[in-house]
Amino acid sequence: MDDDRMIKTGFKQGDDEQEPTLRPKALRDYVGQEPIKRNLRISIKAALERREAIDHLLLYGPPGLGKTTLAGIIAAEMGQNIRVTSGPAIDRPGDLASILTNLNDGDLLFIDEIHRLNRSVEEVLYPAMEDCALDIMIGKGPSARSIRLDLPKFTLVGATTRPGLISAPLRDRFGMLFRLELYTSEELSAILKRNARILCVETDDDGILEIASRSRGTPRIANRMLRRVRDYAQVKCGGCITLETARDALDLLDVDRIGLDRVDRRMLGTMIDKFGGGPVGLDTLSAMTGEDVNTIEDVYEPYLLQLGFIVRTPRGRIVTKSAYEHLGRKPMDDADYDDDEQLRI
Ligand SMILES: Nc1ncnc2c1ncn2[C@@H]1O[C@H](COP(=O)(O)OP(=O)(O)OP(=O)(O)O)[C@@H](O)[C@H]1O
Ligand SMILES: [Mg+2]
Repeated sequence: MDDDRMIKTGFKQGDDEQEPTLRPKALRDYVGQEPIKRNLRISIKAALERREAIDHLLLYGPPGLGKTTLAGIIAAEMGQNIRVTSGPAIDRPGDLASILTNLNDGDLLFIDEIHRLNRSVEEVLYPAMEDCALDIMIGKGPSARSIRLDLPKFTLVGATTRPGLISAPLRDRFGMLFRLELYTSEELSAILKRNARILCVETDDDGILEIASRSRGTPRIANRMLRRVRDYAQVKCGGCITLETARDALDLLDVDRIGLDRVDRRMLGTMIDKFGGGPVGLDTLSAMTGEDVNTIEDVYEPYLLQLGFIVRTPRGRIVTKSAYEHLGRKPMDDADYDDDEQLRI
């Protein structure tokens, strides 16, 4: 349902044409995520000085924030190759064993959606991460024995949108765990300016800021909007992205001033109209929007929570006063709010 949503954070067909060129390849071009970059610079420099691989690291956070991009950058900064795979693609322990034995010293192994590795595959990773070793069973029955093979010194980079689903033993074997945060409008503006230059589109600062503030803190959405606004500007007004063109183009796509689309607005509206603002359970929200529970939790909620439009409580989600104001609704009873603009429960 609503597969054409502009604000979908997942990869969409049509994104790929320019993706490789828009993806920054060096740490200095990777905008924002300052605490992560600070730590990485130190780890990379130290590892290069010691001529070692850097520690295994786990990148987690909502889709489209730059996990895959960052993994590529780490490999480039280390001057090493990256081997890319994903949790669901590795079916059997043997598949992973063959990937691991084919690595070279210093290589990065990037496993996307690492929370979807099955248990038996995951168990191959434990000795690989800890001791650079692979335990294999030879033979069957009473004569079976396990032998240990040495693996090259590699770095595992895991990425996930659902860190809570990663088992504790796997999580504990990562030396660094980094949570990617949503980007500010200023950071997204910097990304958009660089990409507008790459795409040879003329822009002004206000036009860029308008796209940035409607991008839900997510570079992938910002890049997608930039391409749509570029089309609009080209067809309607000579190609330059100004505040007015950006505004008109994005209004036409039904994305509002702060990046909410019709599904967000309908969801908040129904929570207000049918449930008096909440609390509403996740399953109910899922039925209301036609999105599955995981998508709501991982993709849509982070931005609404960041805006302070909903709060999570053990009994469900509650719409806050700011959301009422944004939707132009009048809160039912002001006395229900405390100073944090949250409903008392
Ligand atoms: N910090 C950044 N600076 C500049 N561009 C960025 C940054 N982060 C992401 N991007 C852009 O956003 C796009 C999406 O990023 P990426 O594919 O790395 O996200 P992801 O976190 O791996 O998403 P998913 O969880 O869906 O795999 C990239 O093509 C890249 O151009
Ligand atoms: Mg990715």
